[in-house]
Amino acid sequence: MKVFKLKKELRQYLDEMRATGKTIGLVPTMGALHQGHLSLLAQARLQTDVVVSTIFVNPTQFNDPADLEKYPRPIEQDTVKLEQVGCDILFNPEVNEMYAGNEQWHLAIGELEFLLEGKFRPGHYQGVTQVVYKLFDIVKPDVAFFGQKDYQQFMVIARMVQLLNIPVKLVMCPILRDADGLAMSSRNVHLSGTERQQALVLSKALFWLKDNFNANHILQLQGQTADIIRHQEGVELEYMEIADGETLHPANKNSKTFVALVAARVGKTRLIDNVLL
Ligand code: PAJ
Repeated sequence: MKVFKLKKELRQYLDEMRATGKTIGLVPTMGALHQGHLSLLAQARLQTDVVVSTIFVNPTQFNDPADLEKYPRPIEQDTVKLEQVGCDILFNPEVNEMYAGNEQWHLAIGELEFLLEGKFRPGHYQGVTQVVYKLFDIVKPDVAFFGQKDYQQFMVIARMVQLLNIPVKLVMCPILRDADGLAMSSRNVHLSGTERQQALVLSKALFWLKDNFNANHILQLQGQTADIIRHQEGVELEYMEIADGETLHPANKNSKTFVALVAARVGKTRLIDNVLL
């Protein structure tokens, strides 16, 4: 695997690859890689010729400085994992390689960035679109792979791609979970043993909802699911919403697709999860 720290060198190398007719797949990450990330890389390996992964803990998408500070950064282990899944290129830039310093611009992609996560993490999606825009510009991928784990993030990026006519195909990969149902996340390492047990209520509640879903009783089911979570000691619910899968507005019985999204704090750790209904 080739490792690049500088965008100029990565660009040059990818230009050469492109000139030989190879397709380029991109998997952007913030590192602390787990099987969920690696499943995206496996998809990229299947669908594209040159697989590029990026590890960059993007400061502009962290609305909580403490969260940025303690975000895990095990770069050696990550490099080994990427080698093992046959990743061709790792781009792992420093902050000053990605940002010129005090950059004041952002992309305004509309209401999607202000709903749900956007409400609880002001500015988060502005940071995400800023960095993903830059990564798309540097790598110019044919296909980019993102996880359903961050369903709203996928919708936000899809909207950005549509608005700016970026010539990239986006692929959404399913959520990988631990055997007990907990959605894999780089932040799970912060959970104590007790907190990890308490956190299981999120996936349990979502699976209960999936089993019992009926589009004629959306509000009632939403309330019952939220109550299951609220009753769990140690878990502080931020939102639980049954949304229209296309607009992320509250769903109604005429919605074509449904997604239930949840965010909660377990101790000091903020977790999100979702399920397609
Ligand atoms: P990060 O949280 O590292 O996630 C990188 C990618 O892995 C995202 O597309 C995310 O949805 C996916 N992912 C995370 N957990 C997953 C799981 N359990 N199953 C399947 N896929 C999973 O998302 C980001 O980084 C950043 O916002 C980024 C897009 C890199 C921009 O900075």
